[in-house]
Amino acid sequence: MNLTIVGAGYVGLVTGACFAQLGHNVICVDNDSDKIKALKKLKIPIYEPGLDDLVKKNFREGRISFTTDIAGAVKKSLVIFIAIGTPPKENGEADLTGIEKVAFTIARAMTDYRLIVEKSTVPVETGRWVKHTIEINKKKKVGFDVASNPEFLREGRAIRDFMHPDRIVLGVESKKAEGILRELYGRIDASVLVTDIRSAELIKHASNSFLALKISYINAVAKVCELSGADIEQVAEGMGMDKRVGRAFLDAGIGFGGFCLPKDLDAFITISQKLGYDFGLLKEVKKTNEFQKDDFIRKIESSLWNIKDKTIAVLGLAFKPDTDDMRFAPSIDIIQVLQRHGAVIRAYDPKAMHKAKKIFKGVKFCRDAYEAASSSDCLIILTEWQEFKELDFKKMKRLLKQPLIFDGRNIFAPEVLKGLGFKYVCIGKGAGIKE
Ligand code: UGA
Repeated sequence: MNLTIVGAGYVGLVTGACFAQLGHNVICVDNDSDKIKALKKLKIPIYEPGLDDLVKKNFREGRISFTTDIAGAVKKSLVIFIAIGTPPKENGEADLTGIEKVAFTIARAMTDYRLIVEKSTVPVETGRWVKHTIEINKKKKVGFDVASNPEFLREGRAIRDFMHPDRIVLGVESKKAEGILRELYGRIDASVLVTDIRSAELIKHASNSFLALKISYINAVAKVCELSGADIEQVAEGMGMDKRVGRAFLDAGIGFGGFCLPKDLDAFITISQKLGYDFGLLKEVKKTNEFQKDDFIRKIESSLWNIKDKTIAVLGLAFKPDTDDMRFAPSIDIIQVLQRHGAVIRAYDPKAMHKAKKIFKGVKFCRDAYEAASSSDCLIILTEWQEFKELDFKKMKRLLKQPLIFDGRNIFAPEVLKGLGFKYVCIGKGAGIKE
C-alpha cells in the first residue's frame, strides 16, 4: 500500500519505518527542510534503538523516502497519517493549528479517494474538525474518510511496541476505512479494537493518564513505605501479582516525565474541564508527581546539610533510559533547583548530553560516570540506564569525597551498597535512608 506519514518526529519516523518494514511504500514528509536533508543522507535525528538500521534497510530497498512536498506525497498515497506534534499551549490545551494546516493542504492536494488517519495524540473532536476542514477545502467530487489510530509506542522500545502491540485501535466511520486499516496492519498479530472516532481519541488520553495515575499512586505508597518502615519494591510486587492490578508501571521514583505523560495528563484535565467536568483526581496525580521531585531534593538537602558550594555528580539526564529525549525530564527541574541552591553540577548521560547541553547552563558535562563522581560530595541517579547498574563501586568510593548516593530510580540493592560502606538514600524503603 502507498502511505504518507506527515511529521518525521518520534512517532512519524518509527511508524513510517515499521510500515516500510511490513512491505508498504512510505513517504515521510516534514516541513523542516534541514531534517529532511539529513534523513535523505540517512542521518536519523533521534536515538531510538533499532530505528537507524530499520530506516537504512528500507531506504536501500526503496520502500521509504523523505520529502518536504506534502502535496506531491498526498497525490501518490492512498492513506495519509498525520503524526505531527501537538505541543501544549499555556493553558494546557493541545495546539492544533498544525493539524488544521496539514488537513487543509491534504484537502487541496487530493485528486481521488484518500483515507486520512490521526496518529498524533489529539483531543476528542479533532477528527470531526479534520473532516470539516477537508470537506470545505477539497475538490467537489473527491471522496475521503477520516480515522483515528492512536499510537501506544514507548520511547526506547518503540519498534518492539509497533511490531508487537497489546492492541490496535481503529476509530472509523466506514467499512471502507476499517478494511484499509486492517489490511495495512494485516501482518501484525494483535487484537484489533474497532470503535467510533471519538472513543479512539479518548482511549489514548485515558490510557496515558491512567499510566500517570499508576505511577503517582505507587509514588504516594512509596512515601507511606518510607514513613512506616516498609519496602516499596516488596509492596509493588505483592500488588502486581494481582492480575487486576498488574506489576507494570509500579516502579517508584522521582516521577514521570517525557513528552507524553505530562502533556497528555494536562490535556485530559483541560478537555474534561471544557466539557464541563472537573477531573480532580488527575490534578492530584500531577501534584504527587511534583512532590516526588521536591521530596528528592529535600532528601539531598537533609544529608548534605548545606547544598551551596557542594559538588553533585548527576548520573542520567534523559527522562528514561534508552532514549536521548530530554523533554520534561525530571532531571531538568531537579538540577535547576540544586543550581539555584548553589550546587556545582557534574553530569553524565550515555545518550542525552547533546540535548542536555542546550538546556543547562553552568553544568560540567563529563565523559563517564567516574569522571562525574570525581571529587563530588555525592552521587545522584536520575535515570536508570543499564550501565549505571554495572558501576564499579569500589572505584566510585575512591573518587567521591564522601560515599553518599541518592538513587531516584531504586536501581541498587541497599544491603550491597551498605556493605561497601556507602550511605544510600533511595525511594520508598524504610526511612528512605540506609546507612
Ligand atoms: C508513554 C506511554 O507509555 C506510551 O504507551 C504512549 O504511546 C506514549 O507515552 C505516547 O503517548 O506517545 P513514553 O512517554 O515513551 O510512553 O514513556 P513511558 O515508558 O510511559 O515512561 C514515562 C515516564 O514515566 C518516564 O519518565 C518513566 O521514568 C516514568 N515511569 C514509568 C515511572 O516513574 N515508573 C514506572 O513504573 C514507569
